[in-house]
Amino acid sequence: MKTLRLAVLPGDGIGIEVTETTLPVFEKLGVPVDVQFGDIGWEFWKKEGNPVPERTWELIESSDATMIAAITSKPHAQAMAELSQELRETGVSYLSPVIQLRQRLGLFANVRPVFSIPGNPRQIADNMNFTVIRENTEGLYAGFDFSPIPDELFEFIQRKKGARSSWQMESPMDGAVALRLMTRDGVKRLLHFAFQCARDQGYPRVTWVDKPNVMRESGQFCLDILEEVAAEYPGIPWEVQNVDATAMWMVRDPGHFGVIVSENQFGDILSDLGAGLMGGLGLAPSANLGAEKAYFEPVHGSAPKHAGKGIVNPSAMFLTTSLTLKHHGYTDQADAIQRAVASVIEEGKVLTYDLGGNATTREMADAILARL
Ligand SMILES: NC(=O)c1ccc[n+]([C@@H]2O[C@H](COP(=O)([O-])OP(=O)(O)OC[C@H]3O[C@@H](n4cnc5c(N)ncnc54)[C@H](O)[C@@H]3O)[C@@H](O)[C@H]2O)c1
Repeated sequence: MKTLRLAVLPGDGIGIEVTETTLPVFEKLGVPVDVQFGDIGWEFWKKEGNPVPERTWELIESSDATMIAAITSKPHAQAMAELSQELRETGVSYLSPVIQLRQRLGLFANVRPVFSIPGNPRQIADNMNFTVIRENTEGLYAGFDFSPIPDELFEFIQRKKGARSSWQMESPMDGAVALRLMTRDGVKRLLHFAFQCARDQGYPRVTWVDKPNVMRESGQFCLDILEEVAAEYPGIPWEVQNVDATAMWMVRDPGHFGVIVSENQFGDILSDLGAGLMGGLGLAPSANLGAEKAYFEPVHGSAPKHAGKGIVNPSAMFLTTSLTLKHHGYTDQADAIQRAVASVIEEGKVLTYDLGGNATTREMADAILARL
């Protein structure tokens, strides 16, 4: 077996605990990995004015795979207040590391598998097996977010204001605007990715989630591309749903879905809903994939209120490791991790607090490792 050069970026808070307790999985499975730890997160922002130092980019570049555990991010004012004194006047500004990675590495697809685990006391249904694919680089999070509204845009909006619009603005200071950017190439590659995922993994259908009855122009733009792309995948059923209805049906009938694919913000919300259906953030893994690069991370953040206590669920990190291995061709080992996590949960003896038990992170991780 080829040695996998793996960059591991534990990050902040509980990221450090779940990384430590999960990493023995490679030795246990006999997968040859060369693990190199890298710096990322809040501490590096405070000390160096950059949460992703240049040496970390070099490490990612020279690795076959990258796993991140969890990173703390804070709003602008707090980020500047915590920055070391000597860096405050240098013009540096905080940009979330995961956004930096997604944009710089062109990782357009955020992939979140949602599945039932027999005996999981916290999941909403026993018949879930679907994947939420969220566009990662454009849509409403493309970065066109303004307050005050730029003059050109303010004038444009005032000019376009219809007689029925009830809002009033006297000046650009009286409003804020976020633009939803959908590009032809972006929507096309996302949809191809979704149909290929359905085909390769045998999902029963692709559901495009948007709000075309309200966002009529950008919605129709996407529907036209959807029809074109879907025609290239005969035999894979597809449908269009409004995002609000999807949220309801994911709860009422999760077994209906195969691949749910959506733009950035709608997908962001639905993918956390997916984690909730599974029983919480302690169980949800994710992959961020582009044409060439990829990185893998649990869906959860750094959970500062639990950090250092050793009580959080390591399963999301184990399942993230499983996704990483699967992506790099270690399918049997990836499946073995998934089975080990499921078996510990099904047995129900060594569970962390979020699954109704009182085991520590290490105890649950050791129980999972023992199943391998
Ligand atoms: N991709 C990322 O790295 C990422 C994702 C989300 C949030 N964040 C950051 O993390 C920090 C905290 O954010 P937050 O509190 O909104 O979200 P969070 O995911 O860190 O935690 C929310 C809550 O979920 C539960 N939880 C999370 N992970 C768990 C686990 N493994 N086991 C058991 N319970 C778990 C805890 O109750 C926790 O308080 C913020 O700085 C935020 O920006 C980072």
